[in-house]
Amino acid sequence: MAAEARTKIPVLKASDENIRRAGAALRAGRLVVFPTETVYGLGGDATNAVAVASIFAAKGRPIFNPLISHVPDVQSAAEFGVFDDQAMALAEAFWPGPLTLIVPRAKNAAVAQLTTAGLETIAIRVPAHPIARALLKEAGLPLAAPSANVSGRISPTRADHVTDLKGDNVEMILDGGACEIGLESTILYCAAGNPRLLRPGGISRDKLETILKQKIAISDKNETGKNVLSPGQLASHYAPNSAVRLNATAVQPGEALLAFGAALPDGIDNATIVYNLSSSGNLNEAAANLFDHLHKLDRGKNSTIAVIPIPETGLGIAINDRLRRAAAPRENSA
Ligand code: TXA
Ligand code: MG
Repeated sequence: MAAEARTKIPVLKASDENIRRAGAALRAGRLVVFPTETVYGLGGDATNAVAVASIFAAKGRPIFNPLISHVPDVQSAAEFGVFDDQAMALAEAFWPGPLTLIVPRAKNAAVAQLTTAGLETIAIRVPAHPIARALLKEAGLPLAAPSANVSGRISPTRADHVTDLKGDNVEMILDGGACEIGLESTILYCAAGNPRLLRPGGISRDKLETILKQKIAISDKNETGKNVLSPGQLASHYAPNSAVRLNATAVQPGEALLAFGAALPDGIDNATIVYNLSSSGNLNEAAANLFDHLHKLDRGKNSTIAVIPIPETGLGIAINDRLRRAAAPRENSA
């Protein structure tokens, strides 16, 4: 066997015993892939700069792109970030759940500077998935965890989507089946001035606005008008190997089709393969299937994936956001 051949990362059932082993590995500075309600995360000790550096290395992610710190509850979140009344109201309403809040870093926060890419703000989330929660409890640490895909590629929503991570610091993949939501968390900037939406995701803007009793702007600018590092800056992201053609009303010869709803487009016989996000037109079901279907269509080595228009309402907003990035001209993204 070639000397550089990489050992395959073990995929283990998320039994109590394996969660205990995973917790011990995290405390020793190793990385663990674990399920959340949104997507699978590549977790490491957020307070250990060496462990965090190996997350960036495993993903091939540029170190200027900060990570989300995952914690078990609002109390531990308040050790690392400063929550004003609005941020606290949102945390209480939506945690545990698919919401990430960007707040000022607390003075003396134990989280490594590398985790927050040297910024004065920190992204924090309290996940709802029982395996993620058990792991946080076992590890007794805040976990820095980006999505467990190689930088720029499609996020994993099943254990078998996790491939190509680099290096040898990943101890295991905890298999918890399919992620219920299937899209990443909503990211809200709450560090200065009125909260702003940086990434649409598992919780809709309307729900956030109901709690805040005010409209929320979409922006990737911080309080000084500079771009904040957010997925919004990266036009190309979630990219499959195949090209992606949006708003397809007809299928061209040789194209794969990502369908939605009961009505099928013209030229359906041209399609090399068809996956339907939700034949009943349910956007929640479509969100849960999106990355899995893109992974499957991509394995088929199709040159182009044609995508039927998806309604721009509810989770459809986050689905269209991911699809636009998947279709964008490719750049060196994160
Ligand atoms: O659902 C999720 O959020 C998943 C699961 C594993 O929790 N995680 C996830 O992480 O999507 P990641 O790294 O793929 O996306 C987090 C995004 C990054 O693109 C980063 O730019 C942004 O959050 N971010 C992190 N810290 C930030 C900060 N201080 N200011 C602005 N954006 C930040
Ligand atoms: Mg990601």
